[in-house]
Amino acid sequence: MPEETDQTDAPVEQFSTFERQSFYRLIGTRRDIRHFRGDEIPAEVLERILQAGHAAPSVGHSQPWRFITVREHSTRQAIHDSFVRVNQLQQKMVDEDRAEVYRSLKLEGILDAPLNLAVVCERVARQPRSSFTLGHSPQPTTDMFSTCLAVQNIWLAARVEGVGVGWVSLVEQDLLRQLLRLPDHVELVAYLCLGYPVEFYRKPMLELAGWKEKVPLNQVCLQEHWTES
Ligand SMILES: Cc1cc2nc3c(=O)[nH]c(=O)nc-3n(C[C@H](O)[C@H](O)[C@H](O)COP(=O)(O)O)c2cc1C
Repeated sequence: MPEETDQTDAPVEQFSTFERQSFYRLIGTRRDIRHFRGDEIPAEVLERILQAGHAAPSVGHSQPWRFITVREHSTRQAIHDSFVRVNQLQQKMVDEDRAEVYRSLKLEGILDAPLNLAVVCERVARQPRSSFTLGHSPQPTTDMFSTCLAVQNIWLAARVEGVGVGWVSLVEQDLLRQLLRLPDHVELVAYLCLGYPVEFYRKPMLELAGWKEKVPLNQVCLQEHWTES
């Protein structure tokens, strides 16, 4: 059993039963949050969350993620207006018998959350001073995948800090690019709302609302090759 230590750089050979259970509890209780209290996230807490994002693995150790904090009300209002437009279009695509459930869903917390965070990827191949990145060219989207892993680390670290994260994809991407002033070689990966939640829902909100159930693990596992189910 390893000694309890606060030293984060101490080598970890094994995790104790308690640590292992805590880790799986963290995974199981992470939720996408859309209902926020307004109180600010202390700077040191945000720092730890972003450090967790920055600890993600990346292709060729390229670390292509960049974290853009967005607090300006006018920017968030413009993004929220965009959400409203996109959401209206989405509603029209939903079958009649599911329209009411769809309308009941809250799908963002852009203005309620005290902080918005854009996680963007400085595309390896498009950088002005592009250099060889180990492992990137055989699969050029690996820089985007790496950035997704940073998002997941942020999501999990936020959860242990008691901070909620909500991912908002229902936004006009061109408008977001403009507002964030992203140059051509930078791609938006995630637009996140961060803040203390009203509650951590006990299940995904889409399950609680009767929109979609979680499928059992055995339905997503295959052997040796793809098989149609
Ligand atoms: C790429 C991505 C985009 C998402 N976009 C939205 C969104 O626009 N609005 C929303 O309410 N939730 C969004 N979500 C959250 C999912 O709905 C949520 O992860 C899923 O329902 C499972 O719930 P859980 O994260 O609480 O386990 C997104 C999640 C991912 C990974």
